Amino acid sequence: MTDDILYSIRNLTVDYKTRAGIVHAVDNVSLDIRRGEILGLVGESGCGKSTFGKALLRLHDGPASIPAGELWFDGRDLMKVPMKDMPEVRGAEIGMVFQDPMTSLNPVQSILEHLTETIQAHEPGTSDAAAKARAEELIERLGIRHERLNEYPHQMSGGMRQRVMISLALALRAKLVIADEPTTSLDVIVEAKFLDLLKELQEEFGLTILLITHNICVVAEVCDRVAVMYAAKMAEVGTAEEVFGAPKHPYTQGLLNSVPNIDMDEIELYKMGGEPPSLLHPPKGCRFHPRCPQAMEICGQQEPSFEEIANGHRTACWLYQAHEAAARAKEAANG
Ligand SMILES: Nc1ncnc2c1ncn2[C@@H]1O[C@H](COP(=O)(O)OP(=O)(O)OP(=O)(O)O)[C@@H](O)[C@H]1O
Ligand SMILES: [Mg+2]
Repeated sequence: MTDDILYSIRNLTVDYKTRAGIVHAVDNVSLDIRRGEILGLVGESGCGKSTFGKALLRLHDGPASIPAGELWFDGRDLMKVPMKDMPEVRGAEIGMVFQDPMTSLNPVQSILEHLTETIQAHEPGTSDAAAKARAEELIERLGIRHERLNEYPHQMSGGMRQRVMISLALALRAKLVIADEPTTSLDVIVEAKFLDLLKELQEEFGLTILLITHNICVVAEVCDRVAVMYAAKMAEVGTAEEVFGAPKHPYTQGLLNSVPNIDMDEIELYKMGGEPPSLLHPPKGCRFHPRCPQAMEICGQQEPSFEEIANGHRTACWLYQAHEAAARAKEAANG
């Protein structure tokens, strides 16, 4: 593992046990998160983004389990950390902003109490006055007036609660913040401000951010690199320039073409055919092949590997593994 990689996720699988059978919501996924970057994770609803984000903290409950994978965070495999010690990792090293932050804030504790408790737990010996001053500074930094610190989570809007979650991660001086759909409950103006803020935090605190969203415009705005997920698998990863400028996977191409553009006639808007597959019974071969306009015979037979096609730019698509496909076709013709 090179030094510039903060989190190296290797062959991660996350299962949900359901009445109908086992759902592999994340299926053998590998991904590197580099120090100081904002990495966007995109994909259609239900493809496994939140499950993946939570698994990075081993925050899976009830029907979920991680049957396989290595989670190398800052040099140690979190899969080997005893579960009882995981709250410490979650507190001090990786912060998470959930899709619904209400569930992760204590309803009977004011925002001030949340922050001062976190600050004092992380830096024992901090006086009440110093902790309060830091809480005020942090919350103002996130665009919430410090007078609102005495309020309770239910008194704040969804977007404010998400900013409170980020301020908690900052209070801990977390190395990584995983933000799951942090802008879905914000209007476009607040969203733009929030995205600017993420950029500022990245620069000022050297924060590494995994930004999970189904909004590709958000990713284009702030992310250094982009990971595209499809049906529990990684389809493509690369820099934002590579993925947006020259997308390789037909799914990424479809996603980008289906984003409305202000200069575009509605008629021009591409609509990707079909639906994402059921994760209970995913199709054989490449999971995208039933919807793929460029599908070849091999795509329905065998899964493509997640191959590097240029420095750091990877995709799982037979179009870029043509030599192998050709060899197999020849083999089939001969045999
Ligand atoms: N508690 C659960 N029990 C069983 N299946 C689940 C559970 N939570 C999620 N799933 C399934 O796992 C898959 C991935 O869900 P996940 O919430 O990770 O998707 P997502 O990409 O975050 O979607 P969205 O964009 O809608 O937030 C889905 O097929 C979902 O139905
Ligand atoms: Mg989600």
